[in-house]
Amino acid sequence: AVTRVAIDQGAKVYGSKNGYYGLLHNELIPLELRNVGGVMQHGGTFLGSARAPEFKTVEGRQMALQHLRALGIEGLVVIGGNGSQTGASALNDMGLPVIGVASTIDNDLIGSDITIGVDTALNIALEAIDRLKVTASSHRRAFLVEVMGRDCGYLALNAAIAGGAEGAVIPEIETTPEEVVADLQQSYERGKTNGIIVVAEGAKHGWQELLAYCNSQPEIGFELRGVTLGHVQRGGTPTAYDRLLATRLGANAAERLIAGEHGCVVGMIRGRETATPYSEVVGRTKGVDPK
Ligand code: F6P
Repeated sequence: AVTRVAIDQGAKVYGSKNGYYGLLHNELIPLELRNVGGVMQHGGTFLGSARAPEFKTVEGRQMALQHLRALGIEGLVVIGGNGSQTGASALNDMGLPVIGVASTIDNDLIGSDITIGVDTALNIALEAIDRLKVTASSHRRAFLVEVMGRDCGYLALNAAIAGGAEGAVIPEIETTPEEVVADLQQSYERGKTNGIIVVAEGAKHGWQELLAYCNSQPEIGFELRGVTLGHVQRGGTPTAYDRLLATRLGANAAERLIAGEHGCVVGMIRGRETATPYSEVVGRTKGVDPK
């Protein structure tokens, strides 16, 4: 969407291979309309992505700016979550107009009610939970299912609600191992054939600790197993919701940048493409509303 809108408005577009790594190592490739055809139905990124610690230094960012200026690049769109937008803000402060697009499965970025990738990751977690329930019911077992999300419980909470789980263990609210045992035991005593507890990777008591504790409490009834979904959640075909969200945010970011706006992240707030200044985004994260 960024490429298409920018070309439509008369701009020339380059893509940076592997994110900031490509800016540091001058791996910038021209993008024409045909380069961005047929990417909609694929997860991940056709440009690649990498952790680039050198970009955190002023020298690294100066090098990136040199490469961009050598190509006559006048503005940058950065698609990513907190780490990416922190780097983007620093580059913007060094004089290059930068605009962000809110994209992370963690949904912990300020400036968007929901970020690109969350819906797909959530649906993948749900599919896994539905499958786990089949085997859990056959053996009258309970599963502790760990999902990603860094320090945000959004994926875990929503997967638990939509997956009909017994409970969610999230970073925003402390749940004790005793509470997990009580939830599962009550379900067992009510005659349920399976139990699911979704555990966020950032929760104070992780799934392995909870599993060890639950296994030491025979009154729980269920036989226990634990599973980590991990990077499985970052693959798969993007949902319709994510394709539309990415299209709308990408198009809006390109329009704004070309119109001269920068120093902000474009996200979806109450159904509208909205720009939030980097000063309100960087250095903070969003958790789930405990209500
Ligand atoms: O920020 C996205 C995310 O998938 C987090 O949910 C997770 O904690 C982290 O990235 C994993 O990072 P890596 O792929 O480097 O192991």
